[in-house]
Amino acid sequence: MITVRKYREADKENLQKICIATGPGIKNERHRLSQLALYCDYFADCEPENIFIAADEADNAVGYILCCTNFAGFKTAMKKHYFKFTCRYDIVKWLMCRAELIMDEKLFKDYGAFLHIDILDGYQRAGVGTRLMDALLALLLEKGIKGVTLGVGSDNVKGVSFYKKYGFHVVKQGPGFYKLGIFTTERQQTDREKQHET
Ligand SMILES: CC(C)(COP(=O)(O)OP(=O)(O)OC[C@H]1O[C@@H](n2cnc3c(N)ncnc32)[C@H](O)[C@@H]1OP(=O)(O)O)[C@@H](O)C(=O)NCCC(=O)NCCS
Repeated sequence: MITVRKYREADKENLQKICIATGPGIKNERHRLSQLALYCDYFADCEPENIFIAADEADNAVGYILCCTNFAGFKTAMKKHYFKFTCRYDIVKWLMCRAELIMDEKLFKDYGAFLHIDILDGYQRAGVGTRLMDALLALLLEKGIKGVTLGVGSDNVKGVSFYKKYGFHVVKQGPGFYKLGIFTTERQQTDREKQHET
């Protein structure tokens, strides 16, 4: 049975393992550090309150949803610390990430948050991603944040299908990627929540 719960500091190692296991094939140690810096460590270090974990029966994380609600903090931290790992790995990727920061800042003004979600292979397509997304959107609604965006490769069949099924709409499209968004008011109540209310 999978439990969805808030993140704890002790989850960080598993968070990093999931980030690497679900990402592109890692080419070398610099690539691994860059992946972690871009898609995992900032969130665990600076916005742990915005992370939900999917945990197995032994309470080990098998999936996560990470979210940034403080773009100014993100931008400063990435420039001062995390981007250097990407620069050491691949200068072109680093330049692209810096350019993406400008695009994401504009989207952030309209939505107020952005996210990453990853679930280990053996736990996918069993409703876990939907539960993590529900938990995050409920939190954002509670915090009065308008919505959330994300970036996904247009060749990521699972991801694109998952987000569209959940109700995300395309807010921007570029070569090989989509930026998708959803407003918290568009989130559908789960059957479980409806039952609680009756
Ligand atoms: C994308 C992801 C988060 C979805 O989470 P999940 O727990 O598998 O999704 P759920 O079970 O809640 O939702 C299932 C829906 O997602 C989509 N989906 C999930 N796995 C899929 C697959 N292998 N092929 C096609 N669609 C898939 C479908 O729309 C599916 O609905 P359906 O079963 O009725 O067709 C998960 O598959 C994942 O972590 N993938 C690898 C990492 C990744 O791509 N992360 C997103 C980066 S932007």
